[in-house]
Amino acid sequence: MKDSKETETALLRVLTLKDAVGVGLGAIIGAGIFVVTGVAAGVAGPAFILGLIVAGLIAAFNGLSSAQLAAVYPHSGGTYEYGYRLLSPAFGFSAGWMFLISKLSAAGVVAIGFGSYFYQLVPVASPLAISLVAVVLLTTANYFGIKKAGMLNLVIVLFTLVSLLYLVFSGAPAVRGENFQPFAPFGIAGIAESAALLFFAFTGYARIATLAEEVIEPEKTIPRAVIITIVTAIVLYAAVAAVAIGVIGTSRMAGSTSPLQVVAEALATPGIETIVTLGASTAMLGVLLSQILGISRMMLAMGRRNDLPPVFQRVHKSYRVPHLGIFLTGLIILALTLAGSFEFIVRAATFTILLYYSITNMAALKQPRSEQIYGRAIPVLGLAGCLAMSVSLPMHVILSGVGLLLAGFGIRLLFHRIYDR
Ligand code: ALA
Repeated sequence: MKDSKETETALLRVLTLKDAVGVGLGAIIGAGIFVVTGVAAGVAGPAFILGLIVAGLIAAFNGLSSAQLAAVYPHSGGTYEYGYRLLSPAFGFSAGWMFLISKLSAAGVVAIGFGSYFYQLVPVASPLAISLVAVVLLTTANYFGIKKAGMLNLVIVLFTLVSLLYLVFSGAPAVRGENFQPFAPFGIAGIAESAALLFFAFTGYARIATLAEEVIEPEKTIPRAVIITIVTAIVLYAAVAAVAIGVIGTSRMAGSTSPLQVVAEALATPGIETIVTLGASTAMLGVLLSQILGISRMMLAMGRRNDLPPVFQRVHKSYRVPHLGIFLTGLIILALTLAGSFEFIVRAATFTILLYYSITNMAALKQPRSEQIYGRAIPVLGLAGCLAMSVSLPMHVILSGVGLLLAGFGIRLLFHRIYDR
């Protein structure tokens, strides 16, 4: 007999537009703006701000494709579902597997990042211990229901937004025009490279589509949430980048692994350094929370089709969440955080996630015309952007990504042998 806690299978549709935007912003604002802007400044000079906008536009095309699909297929799993329904089981599985690999490995990195930022504020324990506690707490928060996780996420996102806005408003008067000269010392090539790097800063725009089964009126809420989220991210990032360039210049940004903290140190505004460090900590927490949300729903969707053991489709009777997926996700992230260095998977994940987004656009192109609310140009541009970025990656990264994908197909074969009747 089944455990009485696990007999229900339906999730709860309780996420409002506000929650959905919160999940999107929580998933987007993270290491990208706090760390990667420094690397981008190094490869493009002040013109990395153009690279940032290009990256934001590519993310917007991709996000609109996801929104158009989620409006018609509001099921957990996002592109995994669209791939299965509109392309083929192999595309669907590839999307699901690549999402799991890239989000799990990124979650380990984000947890480590949180520990190192939070340690600067409150050195109560080692950065690693802080990271591990955060993973346990966020996993627990996810377990107690999507609404509670959504509310916690809103609080976290609010802290992050306030800290970045405080930086923008405190830094604006200290902007010096000469820091924008020369504007594009590494030309178009530098701008293109910075765009590819900064695309990472916008990833997460489709997280709400992965949770589509828990959104109220998904056909209206998801497209609105995706648009609000991406526009907010583009405007906020551009403002932060402009202030950072204007206050410290791109050479100093490029020389730091936490360029926004260097900007804060250069300003005389009371409390700015603490607030920016707090914002970096909450940004990491928001990404981690939304990763646990997304990964566990992907596991649920994959469990429904025996691409993972079917036990993962079970939903907790009281909290109506895929609790086994949440639990396993927490365990894997803990293990990755403890392992610390898993450079190979993280690098390969940059390729696999671009394939995931490519599959989203391909599925959007296969939708009947009547469902293509934004026209065919959007998925064509999104697909072109993703493919251009993926082939620009070093060959060993591409090959590692392909290797991880093939390993996934091997595991899938095993699960189907065991669970298909
Ligand atoms: N967009 C997320 C970040 O910047 C993944 O960390």
